[in-house]
Amino acid sequence: MKLSKRHLAVGAAFVSAMIVTGIGIAAWIVYEPALPEIARPSPSSFDRGLVAKGEQLATVGDCIVCHTAPHGAPFAGARALPTPFGTLFSNNITPDEKTGIGAWSLAAFSRAMRQGVGRDGSHLYPALPYEHFTHVSDDDLKAIYAFLMTRQPVSQQAPENQLLPGLGFRPLLAGWKLLFLRQTAFEPQANESAEWNRGKYLVDGLAHCGGCHTPRNLGGGEEKGREFAGGVAEGWNAPALDTTNPSAATWNADSLFAYLKTGSNREHSAAGGPMGPVAEGLSRLNDADVRAIAVYVASRMHPSRDGAPAAVAAEAGIDNRSAAAAAHPEADLLFEGACSGCHAPGAPMNVNGRPLLSSTSDLKADDPRNAVQTLLRGIEPPGEKGPYMPSFSNTVTDRQLAELLAYARARFTNKPAWPDLEAAVGDIRKENAE
Ligand code: HEC
Ligand code: HEC
Ligand code: HEC
Repeated sequence: MKLSKRHLAVGAAFVSAMIVTGIGIAAWIVYEPALPEIARPSPSSFDRGLVAKGEQLATVGDCIVCHTAPHGAPFAGARALPTPFGTLFSNNITPDEKTGIGAWSLAAFSRAMRQGVGRDGSHLYPALPYEHFTHVSDDDLKAIYAFLMTRQPVSQQAPENQLLPGLGFRPLLAGWKLLFLRQTAFEPQANESAEWNRGKYLVDGLAHCGGCHTPRNLGGGEEKGREFAGGVAEGWNAPALDTTNPSAATWNADSLFAYLKTGSNREHSAAGGPMGPVAEGLSRLNDADVRAIAVYVASRMHPSRDGAPAAVAAEAGIDNRSAAAAAHPEADLLFEGACSGCHAPGAPMNVNGRPLLSSTSDLKADDPRNAVQTLLRGIEPPGEKGPYMPSFSNTVTDRQLAELLAYARARFTNKPAWPDLEAAVGDIRKENAE
């Protein structure tokens, strides 16, 4: 069939109408007005109880972790955050009027937290976890605002972001939000306890556990329907916090409470990577809220609420030493010299309550990344004292490190060998140096 001129004209008119509407809708989505500057409110205008509440909530939200540069002033920003799309720098959120949020109204602050839009109307990157903060209640945002506005103002401008070409164009973020940002208020579930609901409110919102523990799609959004199935954070894997968590020892509300509050417990490994600062923050949060988080997360890890301890006990005792030594003789010697003092079954550390390598997550995980990072970086105790492991970054070669981990996996788990381990060690070492 041949198209007549009239057909073509109608078609062209239709297409241009579509384009104009499309641009209109796009501009409408992209456009956010600047909100007026205000004079910095006097610190004494905020209720003290509200400020104290805000301090606790800011602790749950890890604001200080991302908004403080190494050795920098608290909340003054300029911390570099590596992402797959380049490096972002956090802003100054002290109440300095020029370089911080001193001239921001509560409305401007709440819009940033809920919709990821700065006071001047520009779209913010989701490195500020507004996918989660969007669920925080008005009252809680008001308290965090009161806390931040009563801090010491610090004058410090954040450095320019260093993103992949094209991604520095902020209006693109409006499209991202359309795809991935769901602005819904928290809805309590009537069949669950008040404690469980409190935990879910904190976990989904301010604590943004899913920001690291949920896998992300190619666009960088959290995958719907795969909440807590395991994600990535700053060169580490954040293990699954659902029924697929690899630890041999069952997590329950008590062991989660201890881990979240102190960074370690007697059954599981210590928080040595990006989980360290999260636990450090939670150590300053009141016990009731940490327990609520633990109760909710435990219900995700064991919907039956009691786990399967019998199967677990057998796995936690695995020690296939002779088979592992036969396959990796050099590593058996290295392990004896460098690791056994702490990790051989019966070592003083284990006797004094630290877990066996067979019961923790890293050697069981499908991906060797966290085990490699633990050996390269070691473990610093979160406080004055706590579990410590030296870094082996300068003492073993990539090949030796790969052999040690292949040996440890063969000895302390029944999992198949990790493929291409030496190459993985080399890659992770390179990433760490960048
Ligand atoms: C995971 C890291 C991270 C955490 C946690 C985090 N932020 Fe941020 N925040 C950022 C980054 C990065 C930016 C800058 C985003 C950009 O440039 O688009 C930012 C921007 C902001 C802004 C906008 C400032 C401006 O000048 O535009 C505010 C306000 C803010 N954060 C407040 C908070 C508060 C309050 C908390 C705690 C409840 C918090 N952030 C927790 C990373 C974080
Ligand atoms: C900044 C990213 C990040 C955030 C936010 C985060 N985690 Fe983690 N988490 C990790 C990483 C990475 C690990 C792996 C070990 C480590 O870092 O020490 C981990 C480990 C854990 C573990 C131990 C898992 C295992 O099998 O050994 C638990 C439990 C846990 N996190 C719970 C939580 C909860 C609950 C929250 C929210 C209150 C949370 N995490 C928030 C990154 C994060
Ligand atoms: C000074 C004592 C010490 C030495 C030496 C040591 N470690 Fe560790 N290691 C620890 C501690 C403490 C932990 C954290 C577990 C815990 O909370 O008790 C740990 C954790 C680990 C983990 C992570 C477990 C997990 O799932 O998170 C691996 C893997 C590991 N060590 C392997 C080794 C290897 C291999 C060597 C020798 C090259 C070694 N360690 C030497 C103390 C030590």
